[in-house]
Order: sequence, then structure tokens, then C-alpha cells
Amino acid sequence: MSEKRPLALITGASSGLGLELSKQFAQNGYDLAISGSSDRIFEAAEVIRGLGANAYPHQADAASYDGVESFWTFVKELNRPVEAAVLNVGIGLGGAFADTDLEEELKLISINITGTVHMAKRVVKHMLPNGRGKILVVSSIAATLPTPYETVYGPSKAFGFLFAESLREELRETGVTVTAILPGPTDTNFHSNAGMGSSEIGSSKKNDKELVAKQGFEALMNDVDHVVGGDEATKQEAMENRSTPEPEKAARHAKRARLQN
Ligand SMILES: NC(=O)c1ccc[n+]([C@@H]2O[C@H](COP(=O)([O-])OP(=O)(O)OC[C@H]3O[C@@H](n4cnc5c(N)ncnc54)[C@H](OP(=O)(O)O)[C@@H]3O)[C@@H](O)[C@H]2O)c1
Repeated sequence: MSEKRPLALITGASSGLGLELSKQFAQNGYDLAISGSSDRIFEAAEVIRGLGANAYPHQADAASYDGVESFWTFVKELNRPVEAAVLNVGIGLGGAFADTDLEEELKLISINITGTVHMAKRVVKHMLPNGRGKILVVSSIAATLPTPYETVYGPSKAFGFLFAESLREELRETGVTVTAILPGPTDTNFHSNAGMGSSEIGSSKKNDKELVAKQGFEALMNDVDHVVGGDEATKQEAMENRSTPEPEKAARHAKRARLQN
């Protein structure tokens, strides 16, 4: 295999959307540096190698400053320009705000917001002198509405969306592009990990993760500012959310996200 293949980094790639996005990059000629907190990241690397790409797995906790920094140090030591970066890692948390554990919420903020800013800072400063690079921020359709019973999660994804759009404008004409993907509910471990398995969202049919990853990859390659990930119904819902009053969307989401037990 040639080291002339471009290198992409993807956070949170042990499973779910991160792994699917890694497959998209591998199938389109990229090598991959990938991170996850568990040793499943090494299995993910084997999957990627099976597609003919070089894969460089790193196990680190994206909830801590040192964990984010250690992945970036690992990537730098590969001594290759990072041509694409996917800021994917993120966790959810379901339940009534009065009942959920503050520690869990602060961890969510550390991963979804602080960690995203931290890795983006390293990536942008690396890409700018090269005069090229592509950054994909994995946000969510949750960025387009209030998310009761996931009251911290939705706003963390709204942060990712507006962060991506803001950075995109700042970097216009530098050769570094920024794209956001806003997936609808997708068939990964996300909802069960968030303790939402018994909610209407958690137990209903979801978007295909391969489709969502393909849409994100294509939007990034085509330099689109953002794309909604999922089927036509998901795209329609995101469109309607633009003109639906916030209290109406909040009431609808509360019904879907409230735990059933
Ligand atoms: N699935 C959905 O319905 C949906 C919808 C919209 C947006 N999203 C977004 O998509 C992104 C990926 O979620 P997913 O659906 O693929 O969920 P997932 O299946 O739970 O995958 C999460 C990934 O993040 C890694 N991870 C979790 N905690 C970590 C930590 N502390 N440090 C480092 N890595 C960690 C996991 O690897 P390890 O287990 O090895 O840590 C795994 O690779 C998230 O940003 C999420 O907000 C998901």
C-alpha cells in the first residue's frame, strides 16, 4: 500500500457512524487514523485494513483534555498531512433533567463540545499552512429543535452545527473547508448507550448508518455547508423544523424521548 494515499482522522470510530464513515474514506482511497475509548478500536482498524487501507488506531478518552491531546500527538507522529478530519465522537443522555446525573452531563459536554473545539483547534492550525483540508463535524437533527428529556444533548449538537457553519465562513478561501452533517435517528448503539432504549425514538425504526455515512462523505467532498443525514422523511422533518415554533417542537420531542418504563 502506498503512503501517497491521503490521511483522514476520525474520532469515535470503534463502531456506529464513526466506523461507517471510516469505511467510506477507506473505500475512496484514504488511510485512517482512528480513535475510541475501548479496545474495540483495534478491531475497527482490522475492518478498515480489510478494505485495503492503512489504519492507525489509538485508544484514548475523548472526555479528557489529555485524551484528546494524546490522539492528536499520535496523529502528528505519523508525519503525514491530515487531509480530512471527522469530528464524530459524541454521546447522548436521556432522562428528565431533574433526575439525570450531573457527572454524566458534564462528561457529555466534555466530549461533544469541549473535545470538538479542542480537536478542531489542532486540526485547523495544522491544515492552514498546508492550504488545504476538509473538516466534517457530526452534529444531529437534534440541532434543529429543543430536545426535552435529552435537554443537554440537543444543545450540544446545536453547538456543533453553528460551530461548523461559523468556522466554515472564517476559513473561506483558505483551502480548508468545513461541513456539518445532521443525522436523524440512526441504527447505531447511540440510543441504548444513552439509556433511551425504551423511548419512542430509541425503539422505533432508524436510518441506515451506511446511508448516513455516505451522505456525510459526499457532502464533505462536494464542499456543502451542511447536510441532513437519513431518508426523505428525515430530510422533510428537518425542513419543517425551520418554520415550526419551538414550543411545538419541544412538546413533540418530549413525547418521543420520554422513557416508557
Ligand atoms: N445514532 C444516532 O441516532 C445519531 C443521530 C444524530 C447524530 N449522532 C451523532 O453521531 C456521532 C456518533 O454516534 P453513533 O451513533 O455512532 O454512536 P455509537 O454507536 O454509540 O458510537 C460512539 C463512538 O464514540 C466512541 N466513544 C464513546 N465515548 C468515547 C470516549 N469517552 N472517548 C473516545 N471515544 C468514545 C465509541 O467508541 P468506544 O466504545 O471505543 O469508546 C464509538 O466509536 C455522535 O456525535 C452522535 O451525537 C448520532
